[in-house]
Amino acid sequence: MQARERLPAKGEKILSLRGVSKKFGAVSALTDIDLDVHAGEVVALVGDNGAGKSTLVKILAGVHQPTSGEISYMGHPATLDSPAKALEMGIATVFQDLALCENLDVVANLFLGHEINPWRLDEVQMEVRAWTLLQELAARIPSVREPIASLSGGQRQTVAIARSLLLDPRIIMLDEPTAALGVAQTAEVLNLIERVRDRGLGVIIISHNMEDVRAVADRIVVLRLGRNNGVFTADTSHQDLVAAITGATENAVSRRQGRRAAAEETQA
Ligand SMILES: Nc1ncnc2c1ncn2[C@@H]1O[C@H](COP(=O)(O)OP(=O)(O)OP(=O)(O)O)[C@@H](O)[C@H]1O
Ligand SMILES: [Mg+2]
Repeated sequence: MQARERLPAKGEKILSLRGVSKKFGAVSALTDIDLDVHAGEVVALVGDNGAGKSTLVKILAGVHQPTSGEISYMGHPATLDSPAKALEMGIATVFQDLALCENLDVVANLFLGHEINPWRLDEVQMEVRAWTLLQELAARIPSVREPIASLSGGQRQTVAIARSLLLDPRIIMLDEPTAALGVAQTAEVLNLIERVRDRGLGVIIISHNMEDVRAVADRIVVLRLGRNNGVFTADTSHQDLVAAITGATENAVSRRQGRRAAAEETQA
C-alpha cells in the first residue's frame, strides 16, 4: 500500500469524499455527500436519527459500498471494498458496541487477533507495549492485567480506542463514544480524543451530544435527510447547530445560505 507508508503532515488532507451517494433499494440513505478529513483534526458528524451518519461511517469502514461518488485517500482514488481493506489502508473504526472480550484482560483485548509474535505469544513485550501506549494516552487504567468486566464505561472506551491505535491508522472513527458515559468519564474520553488528534490522526466522531461536539471538534459536519446541511466551527451557537440539524427554516444559517445562493444566482 503505497498510500500507507507515508505519514501525512499536520493539516494535510487525508480523506476526501465527493458526491457520495448510497441507496438501499428505493431508500436514499446518502445523497451527494462531500466530506474532507485532515491530519490532526477532529471532525464531528452530527444529524438527527436516520440522517445517514452510520451509513457514511460504514462506507468509510468498508462495510457498505457507495452507489456512486468518489473517495480519495492520501491524494489517490480509493476503493474501500471490505473492512479488511479499510483497516489495511489506515481507516480504523470503534463501533458503538466496542467488541471487547469481557473475560480477557486489557493486554489480551489490545492484541486480540494481532499478537506481536504470532508463533509464540510474547506476553512481556505485549504488556510493555500496552503500558507504553496507555501511558502516552494518559489513560486511567488501574492495571493492564484487569479483566474488561471490571472496568468502567470510560475505561472500556479507552481500551477500544487504544486497540485501534495499535493498527497505526491515519483516521479513526468513533461512533457515539460518550453516549453511555457519566460526566467525569465523558471528560476523560474527550481528553483522549484530543490526544489522538495531537498524534496527527484525523478523527471522525459521531455524537448526538452538542456539548461534547463543541468541546472537541475542529469542524462540525451536519447531515440532514442524507444530505450535507452545512459545515460549522466549534464556536457556532447551539441554536444554529440545532437549526441545521432539524432544518428549521428561519435562522441565521439558512438566511446566510439563502443570501449566498441568491448572490450566486444573480452573478450567473
Ligand atoms: N442496511 C440498510 N438497509 C436499508 N436501509 C438502511 C440500511 N441502513 C440504513 N438504512 C436507512 O438509511 C437511512 C440512514 O440511516 P443511518 O443508520 O445511516 O442513520 P443515522 O444518522 O446513523 O441515525 P441514528 O442517529 O438513528 O443512528 C435511514 O433511513 C435508514 O433506515
Ligand atoms: Mg447511527
